[in-house]
Formats: sequence, C-alpha cells, structure tokens
Amino acid sequence: MEIRIEKANSLKQKPDFNKLGFGKYFTDHMFMMDYNEKDGWHDARIVPFGYIPIHPASTVLHYGAEIFEGMKAYKSADGYQMFRPEENLKRMNDSAERLCLPTLPLEIFTEALVKLITLDYEWIPESVGTSLYIRPFMYGNDESLGVHAVHNATFVIILSPVGSYYAEGLNPVKITIESEDVRAVRGGTGYAKCGGNYAASVRAGKRAAERGFSQVLWLDGVERKYIEEVGAMNVMFKIDGKIITPSLTGSVLPGITRKSCIEILKDWGYTVEERLLSVDELISAAESGKLEEAWGTGTAAVISPIGVLSYLGVNHEVANNKIGTLTQKLYDELTGIQWGLRPDDRKWCLKVKV
Ligand code: PLP
Ligand code: COI
Repeated sequence: MEIRIEKANSLKQKPDFNKLGFGKYFTDHMFMMDYNEKDGWHDARIVPFGYIPIHPASTVLHYGAEIFEGMKAYKSADGYQMFRPEENLKRMNDSAERLCLPTLPLEIFTEALVKLITLDYEWIPESVGTSLYIRPFMYGNDESLGVHAVHNATFVIILSPVGSYYAEGLNPVKITIESEDVRAVRGGTGYAKCGGNYAASVRAGKRAAERGFSQVLWLDGVERKYIEEVGAMNVMFKIDGKIITPSLTGSVLPGITRKSCIEILKDWGYTVEERLLSVDELISAAESGKLEEAWGTGTAAVISPIGVLSYLGVNHEVANNKIGTLTQKLYDELTGIQWGLRPDDRKWCLKVKV
C-alpha cells in the first residue's frame, strides 16, 4: 500500500529526554488510514501531528468503539528495534473482532510503523530506561446514532518518547486489592484492549491513589475471589520457589510482556503455573512468609516490583519492600533484550536500520 507523506513545516522543540515521564510529549508526525466497506483500508498517510476532526455523532464518542495497543521502539547503534510487534497486531485484531471493528493486515501495520518511526527517529531517546512508546489505535466513526457493527473506522499511530511509567521508577510500587469495583467479566471485553475497560477502572484507581497506592489489583468479576491483573500490567508471584500468574480466563489482558517472561522463566528452569490464584491463597502466602516476590509486567510498566499489597485495609509487605532478586534478574534480561544489550536468541526484536 502506498503511504502518502506530508512532512511538518517546522519541527517541534524536543523535551528534556532526562525528564520524560510517561505519555506527555508527542513527535512531529502521526500515521492515519481510513476504512469503509467499499474501499477497505485506504488513504494511508503520514501527516503532521495534530488534532483530528470528529463528527459529533461518531460511534466512538457515544458507544466507545475504540481499541488500542502499546508498544515500544528502542534506539540501537545503527537504527532502532521494536519488541514483538506482530504480537501486538495479533492482539489488536482480536480486540477488533470483539468490538466489531475491521482487522488490519501485518504488512500494512509493519510498514506504517517503520515509515513513521524512521521519519521521527530523532525522537527516540537513548538513555537507559527510556524508549519511544508507540500507541496504535482504531476507532469507529460512523456518523449516525444507531448501535451496530462499525462500517467506517480510522486507524492512527502516535509516538511518545517516555521514561518510566510509575513515578517510583524501578522502586517497588504499592498496590491495593480492589474489593468493590470490578474491571471485567468472562464473556465481556476484558481480554480486549479497548478504551471502555480503562474508563471502568478509573474510579477504583482514583480512590486507591487517594490512599497512596499506585494502582489496584483486580479480582475476578463474578466471585471476587481470584486474582486477575493490575490496572496497566499483568502480575506474577514467587511463592515457595514457584512462579504463579493468573491464567488467561477471558477477563485478563493477554500481555506480551507476560508471555515473554513466562518463556524466559521456564528457560531458566522455573516452574511457572498459569492458574486461578485466590486472594486467600495469596494473602496466606504473604502472612506465612512464602510469598517471596511479586511484580507486574507490561510494556509501559516493564517489570515493576510490588513492595506492598493491601487487602481489606491490611498492608502486606513483599520482599521487605525492596526489589526481589528474581524480579531484578528478569528486568535485566528483558530490558537487555529490548535495548539490544543482550542476545536476542528467540528473535523477538524487529531491527530497523536508519
Ligand atoms: N494488563 C493491562 C490492563 C494493560 O493495560 C497492559 C498493558 O498493555 C498489560 C496488562 C500488559 O500487557 P503488555 O505486556 O502486552 O504490555
Ligand atoms: C501499555 O503498557 O502499553 C499500556 O497500554 C498501559 C497503558 C494503559 C498505559
């Protein structure tokens, strides 16, 4: 597919790459492409970063027809590399199927990413812990108020140079187990990366922040008994030498970092159990000292140690509120592969020369 390129007349001043935070700055260009049933995907274009006009009756504004992905590009000696981009497309297409949005072929997705990132290459920060966050998203923009499958959609990619997601950086975060609100139920949209899941999660997150916690840990929406995931990451626990992570029951996002960590841990000889883990089992492991380490996994969050787990008003400290040995080892291995500092034996990275 031909991608039309309209370059920005003037380039923006870049922010201080040592003080990026997460998702606050955006590069000079963005990718856009439209879909309708007659023409399929068409008018692929890279244009100056800017506002997008939206019809007031647009499906996305009323019925939340929106899906997105989160990926990263890392600067390398002769260009940059992306981590498992084809996995993000697979997941985006699963999300699209769930929300009745159109799917996207891998060739177009990859070409759009490469052309856009290469054009805005100077925006990829290079110091340790930084990267170029990539946010592909798609929304329905039918201009009518009926509720139905999407007939018209737009796909966009924006780029943002980022540092760490949490203000804590690699220091342990405090997480509270949510016992009131639920994020998702089986049969719903929990496994899809759609905006609505996040809209529903904000209230609990806000209450948690008011009590000094970084995010909430969700329980399953039916029995409120089993551990699911955190607001922006999957979770793993080291209990009595074994790694336990909630199974993908349909209400948990199938994280690409989660999948990659499971592979690495198994290669290192650890037993990894993907199964239902009840909050009672987790809390009694914390009380008996068998909960050795806990961490979250995610593109934005990377590997994020959990230092405090709070449930029903009681705080349980994990690994003395310090980063655990295995958590640190996993962080070093994963980021080593992503930053191109360690061998990528599994061929996870897509390398692009600039
Ligand atoms: N769970 C939720 C709710 C998320 O938003 C994310 C972030 O994308 C993850 C888990 C981790 O997924 P991934 O490792 O693919 O980034
Ligand atoms: C990511 O890790 O890419 C995410 O999408 C998390 C996000 C909700 C900030």
